[in-house]
Amino acid sequence: MTRPHLPPARLTELVDALVEQGWYLGEHFLPEALHAPLLAELETMASREALDAAGVGRGREHHLRRDIRGDAIRWLDRESLAQRRYLEAMGELQKALNQALFLGLFEYEAHFAQYPPGAFYRRHLDSFRGRANRVISTVGYLNPDWPADGEGEMVIFDEHDPDRELTRVRPEAGTFVCFLSDRVPHEVLPTRYPRASIAGWFRRNASLGGLVDPSH
Ligand code: OGA
Ligand code: MN
Repeated sequence: MTRPHLPPARLTELVDALVEQGWYLGEHFLPEALHAPLLAELETMASREALDAAGVGRGREHHLRRDIRGDAIRWLDRESLAQRRYLEAMGELQKALNQALFLGLFEYEAHFAQYPPGAFYRRHLDSFRGRANRVISTVGYLNPDWPADGEGEMVIFDEHDPDRELTRVRPEAGTFVCFLSDRVPHEVLPTRYPRASIAGWFRRNASLGGLVDPSH
């Protein structure tokens, strides 16, 4: 077995926080060997105009809503070594989550996201209770030395009192956030500089009246 990307002690810390409060914030969680090549890849994609404006809603309900979210995305497709390594790290996390929490997670999907200056993502949940096949959300940040005046924090709100802020996450490279997709309201505040992240979701197959929830 090759060396794991994520230290077991950090995975334990993450699982404990998810159990206790439904969310986790870890600084210096992703090693530079994982996040630096991903930023390079994202910047290359952005310069080649290979990112698509992100929408809201699924399937036929998918619409562009610049008043709700302003990021540009590209789904990970395992084409680069950087992506495969990140997905291996998420595989380590999936194993830890399944072992500790019996979640039966079996799939992970993720996209690169770039928020240009001025872009934001209004408060939302990543899935809706009862309809959820997105179980756990992850966000990994890619910008080293995020400027002190950069703003663009991700705000996590109290699930029982969604106007109450619990924490603000600076989008600094290596920082990693994880939370229950159908419980934790969150928002991205307007950023002042191009802001790079990878948002991903561990899924469970939610079969609804014989229909399998489509992947995107
Ligand atoms: C999302 C999201 C947060 C971030 O893509 O659903 O909430 O900080 N992203 O990029
Ligand atoms: Mn979200």
